[in-house]
Amino acid sequence: MVLRAILAGTGQYLPEKILSNADMSQFVETSDEWIVARTGITQRHQAAEGEFTSDLATAAARNALKDADVNIEDIDLIIVATTTPDYTFPATATIVQKNLGMTHGAAFDLQAVCSGFIYGVNVVDAMIRAGAARNVLLVGAETFTRILDFTDRTTCVLFGDGAGAVVMSAKEVDEDGPGVLASFIRSDGRHKDLLHVDGGPSSTGTVGHVRMIGNQVFKRAVNDIADAMTQCAAKVDMPIEDIDWFVPHQANQRILNGVAKKLAINPDSVISTVARHANTSAASVPLALHTAIADGRIKRGDTVMLEAFGGGFTWGAALLRY
Ligand code: UT7
Repeated sequence: MVLRAILAGTGQYLPEKILSNADMSQFVETSDEWIVARTGITQRHQAAEGEFTSDLATAAARNALKDADVNIEDIDLIIVATTTPDYTFPATATIVQKNLGMTHGAAFDLQAVCSGFIYGVNVVDAMIRAGAARNVLLVGAETFTRILDFTDRTTCVLFGDGAGAVVMSAKEVDEDGPGVLASFIRSDGRHKDLLHVDGGPSSTGTVGHVRMIGNQVFKRAVNDIADAMTQCAAKVDMPIEDIDWFVPHQANQRILNGVAKKLAINPDSVISTVARHANTSAASVPLALHTAIADGRIKRGDTVMLEAFGGGFTWGAALLRY
């Protein structure tokens, strides 16, 4: 028997308001044709005024707790992966903790931009296997539209708001049982200028806006994601062709297709929600994961590879059996 971090339940929350590609063309010179052809995106959700990242995260967390049939009293750690926290401090995770009525345990935010959820799985897996946590709420939540420059067509059409959450629990299982099998995280701080936000408390005293040289990020993303998945699977000697499902970060359908082609993956096994959600940064992987579990595609016993690439650069992958 081995101690593993098993995926006990998932949940999601998407704000009510939807911005179509036609809506985006009211802000900038763009078109539905361009956005669909270059990215696969048709719409994105946008948080309402006064609706914060902690609100999205709390709603997704409640759904995940219900799905896992775990009470908040049994959660000992909350991690919120986000780039768009409610405040510079306190951590959004502590606000979620309060919203859920949890007065014990610990909560903190994790900042790895679009790779935040993958980094979170890596941290939760390590903590659970070390005996430092039993039941963890891991949330990816963003109000990314708040840091967009709605006059910059090269970025504003790409992102959206949302939250996805999972409950991960410690469990003694057979070697071929469920849980996180391997994870792999990487970063390379040399490429900040290709993808960053031009503000922050220490540098400008402002929140800033997203800036990206998209076509250069694109090339790195395909190569680094493919490498991360290969290295992650190699840790447990699992051939890529034996993996049932791939749940990628949802930045661009062309990146999903590029990675699938590079690793000879059947496109039908790649979960895509980019058309409806756009890029929700740290929320995109748990939103896609929840979608495919809720609609019955991913079933108990299936192997699932998660992956992401984002600002930093940060990137990584995680392999689990559901
Ligand atoms: O999640 C974090 C990681 N982020 C990513 O992975 C994003 C990676 N990058 C991408 O997804 C793609 O590079 C983009 C979707 C951002 C851009 O697609 P592209 O095929 O790389 O286009 P491009 O940047 O090379 O731009 C091509 C043309 C340019 O015009 P010119 O210079 O050829 O005349 C742009 O000005 O498309 C123009 N353009 C637009 N046109 C209409 C850029 N944005 C738009 C737009 N509407 N919204």
